Amino acid sequence: MFFSTALVSSLLVAGTLASPVSIPNAVHEKRTSPPQGWTRRDALDRRAILPMRIALTQGGLDQAPDWLMDVSHPDSEKFGQHWSAKDVAQAFAPSDETVKSVKAWLTSSGIGENRIKQSQSLGWLEFDATVDEAEDLLETKYHVWEHISGQPHVACDEYKIPTHLKKHVDFVTPTVHFDAKIRARDADNSSIKKRDTKSPLGNPNSGSLPKLGQWLGGKNKLIQQLEQCDTQITPNCLRALYEFPPNVYAAPGNSLGIVEYSPQAYVGSDLDIFFANFSTRQVGDRPTLDSIDGGVVQSQVMSFNYNGESDLDLEYAMTLVYPQKVTLYQAGDLVEGASFSDFLDALDGSFCASDDPNFDATYPDPLPGGYKGPKNCGGFAATKVISTSYGYNEYDLTPAYEKRQCNEYMKLGLQGVSFIFSSGDYGVAGNGGQCIAPGAPPAGDYTNTTYTDGTYGRFNPAFPSTCPYITSVGATQVKPGTNIIKALATHTQPEEACETVIYSGGGFSNVFPLPSYQSAAVKGWFKNHPPPYGADRFNNSQQTRGFPDVSANGANYVVAVDGQFALVYGTSASAPVFASILTLINEARLAIGKKSVGFINPTAYAHPEVWNDITQGGNQGCGTPGFSSATGWDPVTGLGTPNFPKLLKLYLSLP
Ligand SMILES: *[C@@H]1O[C@H](CO)[C@@H](O)[C@H](O)[C@H]1NC(C)=O
Ligand SMILES: *[C@@H]1O[C@H](CO)[C@@H](O)[C@H](O)[C@H]1NC(C)=O
Ligand SMILES: *[C@@H]1O[C@H](CO)[C@@H](O)[C@H](O)[C@H]1NC(C)=O
Ligand SMILES: *[C@@H]1O[C@H](CO)[C@@H](O)[C@H](O)[C@H]1NC(C)=O
Repeated sequence: MFFSTALVSSLLVAGTLASPVSIPNAVHEKRTSPPQGWTRRDALDRRAILPMRIALTQGGLDQAPDWLMDVSHPDSEKFGQHWSAKDVAQAFAPSDETVKSVKAWLTSSGIGENRIKQSQSLGWLEFDATVDEAEDLLETKYHVWEHISGQPHVACDEYKIPTHLKKHVDFVTPTVHFDAKIRARDADNSSIKKRDTKSPLGNPNSGSLPKLGQWLGGKNKLIQQLEQCDTQITPNCLRALYEFPPNVYAAPGNSLGIVEYSPQAYVGSDLDIFFANFSTRQVGDRPTLDSIDGGVVQSQVMSFNYNGESDLDLEYAMTLVYPQKVTLYQAGDLVEGASFSDFLDALDGSFCASDDPNFDATYPDPLPGGYKGPKNCGGFAATKVISTSYGYNEYDLTPAYEKRQCNEYMKLGLQGVSFIFSSGDYGVAGNGGQCIAPGAPPAGDYTNTTYTDGTYGRFNPAFPSTCPYITSVGATQVKPGTNIIKALATHTQPEEACETVIYSGGGFSNVFPLPSYQSAAVKGWFKNHPPPYGADRFNNSQQTRGFPDVSANGANYVVAVDGQFALVYGTSASAPVFASILTLINEARLAIGKKSVGFINPTAYAHPEVWNDITQGGNQGCGTPGFSSATGWDPVTGLGTPNFPKLLKLYLSLP
């Protein structure tokens, strides 16, 4: 913490001049250590002008879960009556009380009413203040900070606001936040690792990318027989497993959204090799590109770790939804990349200002060679289904940041958008197999080293999979030696939890409470299949969100990458396949004048019979066998894999 004598004396002076009723102030935000790479330089000229912005707390958040249930629960009369963006903006605008109380504080502190503006999105109060005024108002001291790149920034170490305003103010800028994203440290290989909070999602070392099995060719031949889906998965294997036909519709506005984070990039000739073998009419077909924050489909660096994810996602999604189109949201330039929040900013401009520079990219990119165009705040349309095969460890971000982002998924859910995320590939461990060190501080505290080498430690759930407003998809595999055609003919479940190369991400949140739609499923699982682990391994209170929600095959995918076919593994495959199936359900609903399915979890849990229950296999990690698949929902394969005919019948029966 930093206090100069100048600050203390100025506060004393301010104190004697302030109104007779002294309002106790409390620390609102505080940084324990500066972000890596920044050095504090000089105090600021007290007459300099700071563009102050106060983020007001949103109204409506208490009612939000009910509102979302209203439009998403199959028993609700309002099922499918999605909101407009304007409805959402109004419902979550700060309350009059919030606006009035914060304005009263500013005016009583000498910031004239005529200087204060409320933003168009209603969420912000904005005014210019001298450093002197801002320091008095927030009981703080500003300094210029300098990044090793030479970039300057104005910040303080902590600030205070009146105690009674705590519930009305999210945060104030500029204060403790830094407006430049700092590059990831090189990971070291010691047994305890520092959390890497800043690694861009598309980083080729990111643990959320799919895993390469073997390249096909020579002796390892491409097989196209449904009898051998236990060794190679192709689009037709998926159609057989989940009983869905090739698509025929292409309703306007029902493109499937696939999000990719640069430098991950698809290769056009790979799509063509895949199409030539599996969907000949599509040779030459490409996704519709929505470039966000300078997002480019780069072709400078080519390898599995740069092309595997995008090729996999697009080859399967484009084939399964054809003749419907796929919209590729390519996010971030090649220097800084982008985060989930950067992507959400492009869909909803009012979310932009809540970015956290510790986790999100800054545009225009301040770094050499970066994208210099303006940041994309709003202006991009959300497709009805959006699939993302990237993920963080929940532990890598702060709970406040995660809740803000999660609320944004809720708002898009109200508007009828389904967000689909992969659940991770390391079982109960996090990306790269990391587990949380015993005795480590809670998420959001960055004062200590906190990850083990993965052989022991606490389970490490994935975000946004733990956000209760998205659908998290785990991975299954065809049981080795199983002929799926025979199995399906005899009503034998051909699949189990994926235990080849990868293990389905699953577990319980340390941040998000148990949502109502999932409560019976989670409690039933604890009762009927009590796990052999205690609170030292995971939050076993039965009061936190469990994931995944559902699953789909994630093993032995035949994918064309860099000119060759390879076998690929991961929930990275499960997510776009599940999203494709939902898109087909939307086609059928739109064809008869109904709305998109929107947020599916309330319906999914209310109708367990539309899923193929997966009851075998586990998701090992952190030196344990992990959890086990079981009858009913479980934290390995969720409710199970989609049974398309039943899912379709259900959704056609809903309003
Ligand atoms: C990391 O691994 C390298 C080579 O594998 C080794 O030389 C080095 O000593 C290791 N560092 C630590 C901190 O274990
Ligand atoms: C299938 O892909 C291979 C590349 O592995 C390619 O050589 C071949 O021409 C493709 N098959 C067809 C029918 O186009
Ligand atoms: C850091 O965490 C470890 C456990 O991971 C603990 O043993 C150690 O005392 C902590 N150190 C500090 C300085 O808090
Ligand atoms: C588990 O979650 C519950 C509910 O959020 C919380 O009260 C409890 O403190 C958590 N337990 C641990 C060990 O973190």
